[in-house]
Amino acid sequence: MRQLNEDTLTAEVVRRLKGVKDPRFKQIMTSAIKHLHAFARDVKHTEEEWFEGIKFLTAVGQKCDDKRQGCILLSDVLGLSMMVVALNHKTAPGATEATVLGPFFAHGAKEFGYGGDLRVGATMKGEDVYVSGRVLSVDGKPIAGAVLDIWQAKADGIYDVQDPEAELELRGRVKASANGEYAFKSYKPKFYSIPMDGPVGDLVRRTGNHHMRPAHMHAIVSAPGYQQVITHVFVEGDPYLDGDAVFAVKDSLVAKYGKVASKDEAKKLGMPSPFLRLQWDFNLSPMGKVKARRVVAPSDALA
Ligand SMILES: [Fe+2]
Repeated sequence: MRQLNEDTLTAEVVRRLKGVKDPRFKQIMTSAIKHLHAFARDVKHTEEEWFEGIKFLTAVGQKCDDKRQGCILLSDVLGLSMMVVALNHKTAPGATEATVLGPFFAHGAKEFGYGGDLRVGATMKGEDVYVSGRVLSVDGKPIAGAVLDIWQAKADGIYDVQDPEAELELRGRVKASANGEYAFKSYKPKFYSIPMDGPVGDLVRRTGNHHMRPAHMHAIVSAPGYQQVITHVFVEGDPYLDGDAVFAVKDSLVAKYGKVASKDEAKKLGMPSPFLRLQWDFNLSPMGKVKARRVVAPSDALA
């Protein structure tokens, strides 16, 4: 077909997918083409604007390597990541709610057993916190063999991976005990700005939206026979809970960090006195009970 114009082009591009064998791929491509063309028609894209868009996407791609993920950050600030999470995680009653992976997951974190100290090697001190809890099934039964991938920003709100020269810190693979109990020592997370030094930062600045994320630690909780959950634990009282730049806050994920003044308790747990304590349980859905859940091996998360 020749002589295509703005009224006939979309149908012809879609028609050329007729030989596609994979029905899901065909469905996605058809919809993507229709929406992209409709978008261009809707805003009556100029060629200069189209080229600006190409330059922007190129710059976002250039902010991707094994430690930084500009494409995930873009998806996050557009709300696309949380849209995909919402569509795919019709959480079973009682299960820990899922949120975005975010751009700062990294491979190669150390393994820790019960009570492990994620502060070791940290280049910046924060408020000491002892985090403990259980990994449970939605029916309340302890889960054996659970692993928690934990990561969080340093006290200045910057992640280790944002400095290409830095070693990994404040992250670890924490193994729960046979009765589902886990514990580790860390620092209380602090709110932070998403990275504003790249094209996604420029975009956010131009929208006039704020660029802060409420304080949180990230967790991927996995156990054999259970659906993995990628989630956050937020800090009660944080000033940015209602305006998260990546839209990830859920009421069920806001936790209270309590102050412990007891010197005996501090000594027993190997903590300075006073210290903060976070008690937090994760509840997983058994595999197969909920349809359409993702299963992301942490090691594949950014592959
Ligand atoms: Fe984060």
